[in-house]
Amino acid sequence: MRTQVGIIGAGPAGLLLSHLLHLRGIDSVVLERRSRDHVERRVRAGVLEQGTVETLVAAGVGDRLTREGLVHRGIELRYGGAGHRVAFERLVPGRAITVYGQQEVVKDLIAARLAAGGDVRFEVGDVAVNDAGTDRPHLTFGGERLDCDVIAGCDGFHGVSRASIPGDALTVYEREYPFAWLGVLARVEPSAEELIYAWTERGFALHSMRSPEISRFYLQVPAGEDIADWPDERIWAELRARLETVPGFTLATGEIVEKGVTPMRSFVAEPMRYGRLFLAGDAAHIVPPTGAKGLNLAVADVRVLTEALAHWYATGSADLLDAYSETCLKRVWRAQHFSWWMTTLLHTFETDDAYARRLQMSHLDYVTSSEAAAVTLAENYVGLPYERDLPDPAQTTPQAREVIE
Ligand code: FAD
Ligand code: DHB
Repeated sequence: MRTQVGIIGAGPAGLLLSHLLHLRGIDSVVLERRSRDHVERRVRAGVLEQGTVETLVAAGVGDRLTREGLVHRGIELRYGGAGHRVAFERLVPGRAITVYGQQEVVKDLIAARLAAGGDVRFEVGDVAVNDAGTDRPHLTFGGERLDCDVIAGCDGFHGVSRASIPGDALTVYEREYPFAWLGVLARVEPSAEELIYAWTERGFALHSMRSPEISRFYLQVPAGEDIADWPDERIWAELRARLETVPGFTLATGEIVEKGVTPMRSFVAEPMRYGRLFLAGDAAHIVPPTGAKGLNLAVADVRVLTEALAHWYATGSADLLDAYSETCLKRVWRAQHFSWWMTTLLHTFETDDAYARRLQMSHLDYVTSSEAAAVTLAENYVGLPYERDLPDPAQTTPQAREVIE
């Protein structure tokens, strides 16, 4: 068997890459370890940057997203008995985020690939990357061989792609956090119109949503926490304790339909390429979810990879492919910093002493009172423009313009 681009992994990165390449007339085969049902049900991220939405719409997979996605023009930071709105419409005019579940994006992409005759294979268990350091790379699986021009490793953090690269060809930067997120999906109408990021002495809590009938919540819990220790009543009690901290706010409760614990980690492997193997999305980098950047970074990577491959096939020039890793890593490191910053701003650390706690309060007060600090949060949260180092001054406030100039 032969294809132009062999893609490992049918997550957002692999599926979108396959579809964007198809729109440029480039063939690919996607090999996924799990079943279609499994990847379509996997509950994960939910916040799409404006650029992610524009990318999906431009790729022709935005119909349901534009119909059902919830456009949000602000978030709330809640601490010290008060809520503080970060108002995107004022801080970053014209920019917003859309709340739409990652598994819905995955469903839309699979449907689009299959409708276009795309080759997406599920339950392919033993994919191996071969000869990536040569100009004849190939994938093997289940006794079959797939020859490719290039391989895209879109198989997430625990995939085979990055693991197949010789250790001395990669540099890894990593930070683990002493806590995890317990994620909950519940059949209950959201208790607020916008997302609430709440700091409390008991730990962080996040109120999010998926639709007018479905809410999504996260609780900071110790790393390695066993979900069996969190019966539904305990989850609701803890969410109430952390969210019902401002006058007049009552948390609506309902049936919990899904729950799980996700470890928190910052991780970057550089470069995002080894010969003919290109890493994209979680295969190359992980952020803690506080900044809602993981899925959005995966989309940004495959945009760059698509352009580079299209240029290579059209002109024979490898210039953009050679620049792929460096181009992506600029955005990756900005998101690394933002995600680490949001995480340290909003979580309680057991090691914190009274001094560290005071600094954290001062930091929260600054972000909620200074226009310049709020713009910094807002412009990173809604997503910086693609393929540029600095935001377009026309899209920012006078305060931000001063900083840029
Ligand atoms: P993935 O979505 O991980 O897709 C990789 C695909 O490759 C998977 O389908 C996997 O089954 C497949 N695969 C793996 N190994 C192989 C193999 N050997 N052969 C073939 N296929 C393989 N981000 C947020 O912003 N907010 C959140 O709340 C949030 N929650 C998360 C919860 C969990 C449990 C996880 C793991 C991630 C979460 N993230 C969250 C991060 C976000 O979901 C990821 O950044 C995003 O999924 C990245 O997409 P991807 O396509 O790169 O990787
Ligand atoms: C969601 C996830 C995030 O990581 C985040 O920062 C905000 C919302 C969500 O799943 O809805």
